[in-house]
This record gives sequence, C-alpha cells and structure tokens, in this order.
Amino acid sequence: MNMNLNDWTLVCRVEDIPVLGSRRVERARGMDVAVFRNDAGQVFALLDRCPHKGGPLSQGIVFGTRVACPLHNWSIGLDDGCAQAPDEGCTPRFSVRVEDGAVYLSAVELASVAVDVVAPVAGPARRMAVVTR
Ligand code: FES
Repeated sequence: MNMNLNDWTLVCRVEDIPVLGSRRVERARGMDVAVFRNDAGQVFALLDRCPHKGGPLSQGIVFGTRVACPLHNWSIGLDDGCAQAPDEGCTPRFSVRVEDGAVYLSAVELASVAVDVVAPVAGPARRMAVVTR
C-alpha cells in the first residue's frame, strides 16, 4: 500500500481493539471516534455517537458489520454509520487503513468531520441546566 504518512494518523494496532468491541480515539476538537473490530478482523471507525439519541456506540456489541447501540439497541452499520430500517439516521464514518497490523485514520477527517457535533445532554446534567440561572 502506498501511504503518505502525513495524511494518516496512527491510532493503535489491530490487536489493541477487542474482538467484537472497540476502542475510543480522542480528537483535538469534536467527540471521540470509536474504532471497531469484528470477528473477521475488519476494522471500522464511526463517531462515538448513535444517530438516535447520541448513545456511545463504542460501548455497543459488534456483530458482523454492525454494532448494536447500548441504549436502545438500534443496529448501526459499521461501514456506513446508518441505522437499519425502519430506524433512520446516520452517524459520521471515518476512513480506516490497516498497514502491517497498524490502524490509521485520516488526519484530515479527524480534524474536520463532525467537529461541531456535541455530546448529548441527559439525566442529572440536563436537569441542572434547566434550574440554573
Ligand atoms: S441512542 Fe442509540 S438506540 Fe437510542
């Protein structure tokens, strides 16, 4: 593979990602990226935010080329970030390259994709925001 390493950011090795699980990658701006590994050894990356109500997809269960969101069990495609019908919506996906067992994400995408998307506010934090003046 011909890679210009300036364009790709090394994030981990494939074996650092649990099989049927994920690992979160922090960014300078924006929410974390969840990097998934399935039982066929494929690696995928999505914004760590379910398109439904913002659940942490990194905490979901991987099966095939999908992940089940831990909050309400929507099935999200790892290759396109989209919910399985009849559910609707997509979460941003990130390009992945695997070279000699090392996992790289696009540096440009890490710095630009969905950097303004914020984490959901729910539970006690939300109630406090309502009563605070
Ligand atoms: S937040 Fe993911 S299914 Fe509801």
